[in-house]
Amino acid sequence: MSLVHEIDYGTPAARATNTVTLTIDGRAVTVPEGTSIMRAAMEMGTQIPKLCATDMVEAFGSCRLCLVEIEGRAGTPASCTTPVAAGMVVRTQTERLKRLRKGVMELYISDHPLDCLTCAANGDCELQDMAGAVGLRDVRYGYEGAKHPDPGKDTSNPYFTYDPSKCIVCSRCVRACEEVQGTFALTIAGRGFDSVVSPGMEESFLASECVSCGACVQACPTATLTEKSVIEIGQPEHSVVTTCAYCGVGCSFKAEMRGEEVVRMVPYKDGKANRGHSCVKGRFAWGYTTHKERILKPMIRARITDPWREVSWEQAIGHAAAELKRIQAQHGARSIGGITSSRCTNEETFLVQKLIRAGFGNNNVDTCARVCHSPTGYGLKTTFGTSAGTQDFDSVEESDVVVVIGANPTDGHPVFASRLKKRLRQGAKLIVIDPRRIDLVRTPHIDATHHLPLKPGTNVAILTAMAHVIVTEGLVNEAFVRERCDRDEFEHWAAFVAEPRHSPEAVAKISGVPAQTIAAAARLYATGGNGAIYYGLGVTEHSQGSTTVMAIANLAMVTGNIGRPGVGVNPLRGQNNVQGACDMGSFPHELSGYRHISDDATRAMFEALWGTPLDVEPGLRIPNMLDAAVDGSFKGIYIQGEDILQSDPDTHHVAAGLAAMECVVVQDLFLNETANYAHVFLPGSTFLEKDGTFTNAERRIQRVRKVMTPRNGLADWEITIALAEAMGFAMSYAHPSQIMDEIAHLTPTFAGVTYDKIDALGSVQWPCNAKAPEGTPVMHIGAFVRGKGKFVVTEYVPTDERTGPRFPLLLTTGRILSQYNVGAQTRRTHNVVWHQEDRLEIHPHDAEQRGICDGDWVKLASRAGETTLRALITERVAPGVIYTTFHHPDTQANVVTTDYSDWATNCPEYKVTAVQVSPSNGPSAWQEEYGALARTSRRVAPESSSGLDPGPFQAPTLERPPLGAAE
Ligand code: SF4
Ligand code: SF4
Ligand code: SF4
Ligand code: FES
Repeated sequence: MSLVHEIDYGTPAARATNTVTLTIDGRAVTVPEGTSIMRAAMEMGTQIPKLCATDMVEAFGSCRLCLVEIEGRAGTPASCTTPVAAGMVVRTQTERLKRLRKGVMELYISDHPLDCLTCAANGDCELQDMAGAVGLRDVRYGYEGAKHPDPGKDTSNPYFTYDPSKCIVCSRCVRACEEVQGTFALTIAGRGFDSVVSPGMEESFLASECVSCGACVQACPTATLTEKSVIEIGQPEHSVVTTCAYCGVGCSFKAEMRGEEVVRMVPYKDGKANRGHSCVKGRFAWGYTTHKERILKPMIRARITDPWREVSWEQAIGHAAAELKRIQAQHGARSIGGITSSRCTNEETFLVQKLIRAGFGNNNVDTCARVCHSPTGYGLKTTFGTSAGTQDFDSVEESDVVVVIGANPTDGHPVFASRLKKRLRQGAKLIVIDPRRIDLVRTPHIDATHHLPLKPGTNVAILTAMAHVIVTEGLVNEAFVRERCDRDEFEHWAAFVAEPRHSPEAVAKISGVPAQTIAAAARLYATGGNGAIYYGLGVTEHSQGSTTVMAIANLAMVTGNIGRPGVGVNPLRGQNNVQGACDMGSFPHELSGYRHISDDATRAMFEALWGTPLDVEPGLRIPNMLDAAVDGSFKGIYIQGEDILQSDPDTHHVAAGLAAMECVVVQDLFLNETANYAHVFLPGSTFLEKDGTFTNAERRIQRVRKVMTPRNGLADWEITIALAEAMGFAMSYAHPSQIMDEIAHLTPTFAGVTYDKIDALGSVQWPCNAKAPEGTPVMHIGAFVRGKGKFVVTEYVPTDERTGPRFPLLLTTGRILSQYNVGAQTRRTHNVVWHQEDRLEIHPHDAEQRGICDGDWVKLASRAGETTLRALITERVAPGVIYTTFHHPDTQANVVTTDYSDWATNCPEYKVTAVQVSPSNGPSAWQEEYGALARTSRRVAPESSSGLDPGPFQAPTLERPPLGAAE
């Protein structure tokens, strides 16, 4: 194995379709118009020396190392900033050029510390490489002269250091922060020889606007910006391309390794979702893999108040299977079920639902998409015919108007946000529909054209009002509707939205958004060119989540914004593999590929291959499983990689459901909150320890590749196989690729997917089959999957969750950039420096009325429950609306969320809870009690590690604290 090195072409690719031919060093080369000479040379394999150029950012022309000679032109222009021209004759290597380049390098080196042998970048330093490339043997000026300013090393960022003594002021970092990340956190302070890179207003990196994406570190050609992990461990010696296990963007990374130790994660430039960029989580927050709290041995206990006993894998699996079988014998086949994980691979998810359907003999399988994007599946399948987003991320580069509704991409989907911001800086218009003033509304060089700060719960009213404007003002794309959509349904819908009760004036009263803003946003979306809609959980997690998704689809169809690049309806998926978990048949009513369990032909195909009859009845959804547990008819559950106690709504009800079960089997990395109610704990594996695939929000199937031996001894797919065997349903796979072969065999949209194809193409977007052998970047081109697009009437029905004198404020919840979901992983990394607790955002007006100051402890109470946390006073939220995150179990924000849910899918209404906020002295009695229970529940019997069989795998002893892991 060796390090994967992508080619650096020096400057970005030109987008022109017409080409020009020129001659470089006597050889003809044809490239797109607008290409730099440097890139054209690299295309034919000639690397012109460079320092300030890299193909992730536009050329700058500051180092003067890349000089060339051009016939007929005076001087020696920089090849990075000089575009090619037809017939141009270029020479890259002459005596004059050699002399000039050596002179440039002499100046750089005379001002550079001579500590190469002890420098962390030794062997990975472009300055060192260029000194070699130009044949530098001597520095005529010596090394004792004036040096550029050195304000001292900045080690404030937990993941990288800034050592200005090594800086060559090439500005690659500044440009990466601006062009790639879009944060504009860096500047060059001072002038000429006194220039120095500075975060913000000469602040430390940690105190500045920096969001720790690492783009500057990646761009830096020297050791000035260096990962602390490289400083500590040394240069990597091999790398493996894999996929981030955090969010649904699905960034591709090179895991750069020394042996089995990760040195750093470097975004892979050939990754089609991220194009070489990343956020702080994927690049830096991987230390949880070796965190000391990770559970590496299986454990069992008879009662949840007992301490855990460490046992062998055989004992744990045997005990779980025996208990589940006992429950079925006593209470019937449908008395147990399971939950698949959107954090695990497609193959693992497929196996869990197979185990439940074929091994348990029922369809009681569900997944966390129940609580996030199940309305997307329902809404887009109903209107378009496929339960998935319509575009690839590249599509945004061709958008003219972007609507972001109920999503906060800079925090939730940061790499997509960077790509979107780039397009917005190029001139595309932005409409934000969100109760909060999310960062995108106003961020450096971006101002949303319209922000619609609607009252939570009024999405359907707003979207229908926008449709009203489009229909009543003659902005319908008649040709598209005529050719592509069902006419009768369109007429019916158009008459509905045209009713005066859907006018912006009428809806302004419901939503709180001025009528003229609603109308202007509708006109812009309908007439502004390519219009794309991106949405998140602020759309789906409502009692009308499915209706809102269909209202979005209606808008896209009525304006013809579907079926080509630049447009579309794009759900920003939360977890890394939530799309895949849904695709794999994790819902109780659907087999893989969204085919109903009651369909005889489909079921017969699975029955034939699996050799067992399947239950024809759809099984229980997660909330129904918990209800049935409380009622006494549901007694056992196998939960792979989900923490429903923290992530699902109405925590007290979830706890009651879990507590009522006789056997709860939890498979996870850490003793999560749900494990407090577990009887069997099966230690899970991380994405670094297994093979498989994830499917991101673009339907892109990407490889996850094992880079280290599972510290727990088994990959998650192997654990499920062992449990299935113990249950009496044998499964036989030697490698996850064989599981994918079975998925492809059984699922028409995956029919053409193989590991070989993914390896050859890098990734593949489903549908991938005979009709589309290399996958489908953009869906519904020419025709909808369902045939004609279906307009659905979207009557606005206010949620039953109402404010009143007792609960006058509306709570909405969301995420923050540095933390991820329930925080199980990110809380065990240095990301905690940015977010150590959940805070309650409250408008100054509401805070003042209640006598609350910034940082005060406050009680947050709803009809469902109460918790306490500290206040953050901000105008990001409107008066009457408060906001918090749910990353920390100490807060348990879901204690207050209710069991109201989407009418079609049961997706909980996290985004609207009527609450009251009042001053408090600190954590509530409930939190204290829960903390005590959690501490009791996590006890491991002291004798267990010595007195029982430790199992087949011995965890390696860490000789030093894990890198990137919080203590
Ligand atoms: S920190 Fe690195 S990238 Fe930035 S100017 Fe200095 S040498 Fe260039
Ligand atoms: S880490 Fe990212 S945000 Fe921070 S300065 Fe570097 S490029 Fe900018
Ligand atoms: S944007 Fe999402 S997929 Fe990409 S690095 Fe960040 S968390 Fe990982
Ligand atoms: S690489 Fe062209 S001027 Fe620096």
